[in-house]
Amino acid sequence: MIKIVTIVGARPQFIKAAAVSRSIRDEFSHRVSEILVHTGQHYDENMSKVFFEELDIPHPKYNLEISGGQHGAMTGRMLEAVEKVLLEEKPHWVLIYGDTNSTLAGALAAAKLHIPVAHVEAGLRSFNMRMPEEVNRIVADRLSTLLFCPTDTAVANLAKEGISAGVENVGDVMFDVALFYRERARKHSTALASLGLADRGFALATCHRAENTDDPTRLGEIVAALAEISGSLPVVLPIHPRTRKLLADTGLDKELGSVKVVDPVPFLDMVALEQAAKVILTDSGGVQKEAFFYGVPCITMRDETEWVETVDLGWNRLVGASAVEINKAFNDSVHGQLPALPKSPYGDGNAARNIVSSIVRKSHL
Ligand code: UD1
Ligand code: UDP
Repeated sequence: MIKIVTIVGARPQFIKAAAVSRSIRDEFSHRVSEILVHTGQHYDENMSKVFFEELDIPHPKYNLEISGGQHGAMTGRMLEAVEKVLLEEKPHWVLIYGDTNSTLAGALAAAKLHIPVAHVEAGLRSFNMRMPEEVNRIVADRLSTLLFCPTDTAVANLAKEGISAGVENVGDVMFDVALFYRERARKHSTALASLGLADRGFALATCHRAENTDDPTRLGEIVAALAEISGSLPVVLPIHPRTRKLLADTGLDKELGSVKVVDPVPFLDMVALEQAAKVILTDSGGVQKEAFFYGVPCITMRDETEWVETVDLGWNRLVGASAVEINKAFNDSVHGQLPALPKSPYGDGNAARNIVSSIVRKSHL
C-alpha cells in the first residue's frame, strides 16, 4: 500500500482535497491509503467543519490546532507539529495544496525528513514577492518531487526557474470540483431564496487578500466601490473573518452602503450564488476561476493574478483596488458583450485521477 499524508489547513485546501480524496477512495483504495492532517489554520465552523461535512472529506486523523499569529510563528509551530506526525506515520508521500502557510510547513517538514513531496497547484506565480503566497509557493515548488500543474502557464513558469523534473500538467482540481458540484448546488442550495436574491439580479463579492485587507487605503477603495454598486444592484458579500475584523477596526464597516454582508457560506451555497450572479467581484484565487467555469464575468480587485488565462480570454478584468477602476469595470461587465466561452484551459475534469495515478506510477512499490 502506498501511504500518503495530506496536509490541509485553509478553506480552499479542503475543497481541493475533496476531489483528490474522493479519487483515492473511489478509484485507488486498493493501492493508496490517505491520512489527513488539518493544521488548524482555519478553525471557525463555517471556514472548516462545514466543508468536511458537505464535501465528504475524510475526518482528519490529526488536528494540530495551530492558527493565528505572525507568519513565522504560525509556520514554525506547524513545522514542529507536522514533523512529529510524519515521524510517527512514516508515509511514502506528503501531499500539499496551493500556497498557504500550511503548505509551506508541510513541504519543509517533509523535505527535512527526506519524504518526497507532491504539490497540487504547482507553478503558479504572481511575480509579487510581497505576497505571502508567492513566497510559500516558490519554496514549496523547489522542495517538491512531483509538481502537479493546473495549466501550461504554470509549467512554463517552472521551466523559467529551471524546474522540469517531476512537472506534469494534470489540469486543475478546481475544475473537477466545479463539474462535480454545479448541478448539486443548483438543486440543493436554498441560498438565493433565503437571501432574497434573483437569478442574475445581484453581484457577488469576496475580499480577504492580505494586500487588500491590511492596507486601509485599498480596503477603503474596495468598500467605496461595493457601496456604490449596491446603489444600482444588490451586492452580497460573504465575509472572510479576517476582513470582518479589519472592517470593524477601521470603521469601514459603516461605509458599506446597501451591501448585504453575510457570514462565510458553505460551499454548495457559494457555488449556487456564483452561478446565479450577474457579476463577481473578488480577490480570491478560487473564486476567479469558478466565475470563469460558470460563465460569469469577473472583476479581480488585485494588481496581478496567477490565473492569467481568465484575463486573456476576456472573462476576468484585473483592476487593482481603485474605486474608479472597479466601478468602470462593473459597468463594462454589466453592459458589455461577453466573448464566447472557450474550451477550458484548466483540463478536462480528471485532474484528481491524474494526480493519484501519477503518484501510484512514481511510487515503485
Ligand atoms: C489564508 C492564506 C491565503 C488563502 C486564504 C484562504 C496564508 C499566508 N494565507 O489567508 O493564501 O487565500 O487563507 O481563505 O496562509 N480567522 C478566523 N477564523 C478562521 C480563520 C481565520 O477568525 O477560521 C482570522 C484570524 O484572525 C486570523 C486571520 O483570520 O488571524 C487570518 O487568517 P490566516 O489563516 O492567517 O490567513 P487568511 O487571510 O485566512
Ligand atoms: N468559498 C466558500 N464560501 C465562501 C467564500 C468562498 O465556499 O463564503 C469557496 C469558493 O467557492 C472557493 C474557495 O472557497 O472554492 C476559495 O477560497 P478563498 O477565497 O478563501 O481562498 P483562495 O482561493 O483565494 O486561496
